[in-house]
Amino acid sequence: MKFFVDTADTDAIKELNDLGMVDGVTTNPSLILKSGRDILEVTKEICDMVSGPVSAEVVATEAKEMIAEGMKLAKIAPNIAIKVPLTWDGLTACKAFASEGHMVNVTLCFSPAQALLAAKAGATFISPFIGRLDDIHLDGMDLIADIRQIYDNYDFRTEILAASIRSVNHAIESARIGADVMTAPPSVIKSMANHVLTDKGLDQFLKDWAKTGQKIL
Ligand code: G3P
Repeated sequence: MKFFVDTADTDAIKELNDLGMVDGVTTNPSLILKSGRDILEVTKEICDMVSGPVSAEVVATEAKEMIAEGMKLAKIAPNIAIKVPLTWDGLTACKAFASEGHMVNVTLCFSPAQALLAAKAGATFISPFIGRLDDIHLDGMDLIADIRQIYDNYDFRTEILAASIRSVNHAIESARIGADVMTAPPSVIKSMANHVLTDKGLDQFLKDWAKTGQKIL
């Protein structure tokens, strides 16, 4: 499974990237706001740091303007994946970008029907939002499983990018079902290292080691 990091915080990206944990980055308008940075400047810095796809999102709502914005974003670096919302205009822009050879991430996907349309429009990635479905008491994992089955039935090449991942369980369930990629905040990726029995076991080893009176260095 590929790991994308869902942030525009360059320090956090660097820390994970140095450990080999970053196969790509996703951003959105809310994450750009959180960074307090200029979209073109921060996206360029991320693209220079990470060799995999870096999603940068358009904000227009009509296809013609989306295409103009996306073409400008694509000029930032060759590893830009233009991110468009899953609306009819977004699908129109997706098709235009894909025909020009650009990577496209179709975002805000909440149904298998939407995912099927995105694949037909040539999306490189489809981003089903797991956490936001859980927020309204639906099971985001059912959506990942449905899309996996549909894409496999017809051999669609669009990669399933499990998004709005809020917990380790979301990450692991997505991997179990067979999402190609997950994008998660740095805090979720780091918390994947945690286990209460690891902490307990380490605590015991350190107590016993102290009793030996020995030193390694
Ligand atoms: O990748 C999508 C993500 O940024 C949305 O996450 O937690 O705001 O639903 P969240």
